[in-house]
Amino acid sequence: VEQDKIRNFCIIAHIDHGKSTLADRFIQYSHIVEDRQFREQMLDSMDIERERGITIKSQTVNLPYTAEDGNTYVFNLVDTPGHVDFSYEVSRAIYSCEGALLLIDATQGVEAQTLANMYLALEHDLEILPVINKIDLPAADIEGVKEQIEHELGLDPDDAVCISAKTGKNVEELFEHIVKKIPAPSGDLEAAPKALIFDSHYDPYRGVVLYVRVFEGEIKEGDTMLLMSSGASYEIEEVGHLRLKGIPQKSLRAGEIGYVIAGVKTIRDIRVGDTITIKEKPASQPLPGFKEVKPVVYSSIFPVDSNQYEELGKALEKLVLNDASLVYEKTSSVALGFGFKCGFLGLLHLEVVQERLEREFDLAVVFTAPSVQYRITQKDGTIITIETPDEYPDVTKIEKVEEPYIKAIIITPNEYVGGIMNLCMEKRGVQTSLLYLDKKRVELIYEMPLAEVLFDFYDRLKSISRGYASFDYDLIGLRETNLVKLDILVNGKPVDALSQLVFKDNAASRARAICKKLREEIPRHQFKIPIQGAVGSQIIARETISALRKDVTAKCYGGDITRKRKLLEKQKEGKKRMKMVGDVEVPQRAFLSALKAS
Ligand code: GTP
Repeated sequence: VEQDKIRNFCIIAHIDHGKSTLADRFIQYSHIVEDRQFREQMLDSMDIERERGITIKSQTVNLPYTAEDGNTYVFNLVDTPGHVDFSYEVSRAIYSCEGALLLIDATQGVEAQTLANMYLALEHDLEILPVINKIDLPAADIEGVKEQIEHELGLDPDDAVCISAKTGKNVEELFEHIVKKIPAPSGDLEAAPKALIFDSHYDPYRGVVLYVRVFEGEIKEGDTMLLMSSGASYEIEEVGHLRLKGIPQKSLRAGEIGYVIAGVKTIRDIRVGDTITIKEKPASQPLPGFKEVKPVVYSSIFPVDSNQYEELGKALEKLVLNDASLVYEKTSSVALGFGFKCGFLGLLHLEVVQERLEREFDLAVVFTAPSVQYRITQKDGTIITIETPDEYPDVTKIEKVEEPYIKAIIITPNEYVGGIMNLCMEKRGVQTSLLYLDKKRVELIYEMPLAEVLFDFYDRLKSISRGYASFDYDLIGLRETNLVKLDILVNGKPVDALSQLVFKDNAASRARAICKKLREEIPRHQFKIPIQGAVGSQIIARETISALRKDVTAKCYGGDITRKRKLLEKQKEGKKRMKMVGDVEVPQRAFLSALKAS
């Protein structure tokens, strides 16, 4: 394909405004899959994405389109996630595109991530095409949304294309718009090659697959590729286009997006954001790459079966290939043995990592209480930063503790303002602004501790506003706080994996919630099990699991040996998901659900 026939663009939007549905329409119109193979949410290839109905990973697809001018164009479309935890995926997608379709739900209007994602696209000088979606719905308010496009986004509302991604209405018109409005890529075809690795994944048959955007020159099969940050080199086995599956090509040229397979043995050589060049004709300077992501939540992961520690390490290494925002290092715990301390972009990100470890790598894992990063000034003047309760120093040595604060931006229909203000207050928020965007919509800005939004803030915001309020945040620095370390004792023994750092006033209620949850989750044993919450030596919450009276197999009288065996086997199966804490068997899921209790 000639460079001037390529259009690279992403679809960005607030969550649920219809990105994946629109991507489906693009795929259908281009006929790259047969109708009988077509399924909804084509680009959400992970099971978790399909079950939850959300996009977690950006996905690129190469689509041919024959335009009204008679020419055949190639669209490289990148579907991006909408949830705030995955905005890093959006920011990377943006690097490989010249344009962005900014999708806005005609019944919801401009929301928090509409703005946040638009700013990301503007930072990279993308051509932004506003698209109003869901016009088939009776509640669609096209004129109202056009006004918002003009006043809140500062874009030209006359440029907006009104579509229904569901019925396909006006989608072809949008294709023509893309051809005309989004600039073709530029880049010298003869120059020393430069390609940006924007994503990667591990394929059990082919090894590491790199997803690249070529900015300069050409890379082809048989070339020796050079990874510019590590200097490692590999022979390229295959390059190609991404059409849901890889379509091998002779080469990838400046302006194109595609994949590269090069028999990479050492996964650690690969870094998303790195530049590939060719040994025979090396570029002198790498591309700028991506901004480093900083995790906001930390938690440690342990294998339920301690023998799987090494396997867990290998799984994380492979997962990081496909999830560059995940960071990890080795750690250990008294209760749980060897594991990894990980940094995540949010609680949903943490849950996704847990599910992927279980589904893609068949590993049962336990997570410790998610925590933010605290800065502690000690009496001797030294300053430390900590992310886990076990790093918490002796209280007598502490001079002051600071915790990260965020600026939370909430956009909501006005009838929910009261409820949301109460929620923010409960979460130690301080209001800094309340602005009527129009007659019905209000923008609230709060400063509040990041730790408070980690747990159930987002869910509660959604339930208070019946799903209508939207939320985005920025970190704004550290503020002094009153922190304590809450320990949980099971059968008299502190379980370090359940300890957490909490704001002093929240300690008692958090402790009660956790103890209650554990009482529900831990099965009865032959003996009575006290579960306690403690700060220092002071017990602040207590629950008791009463003892089991009978042996479960006692019911099966002597003769029925198969039944007895079945029952024992079933128990054994269940035990695989149990973690021994002293004499007590704690189910794996108890850890996360206890920590989510509040
Ligand atoms: P995330 O990837 O999770 O951010 O969501 P998304 O933006 O990809 O939204 P998705 O395509 O999953 O659509 C969300 C919901 O809106 C789904 O239930 C779609 O069926 C519905 N939807 C999308 N487009 C339209 C439309 O044009 N009309 C109607 N009526 N519903 C639509």
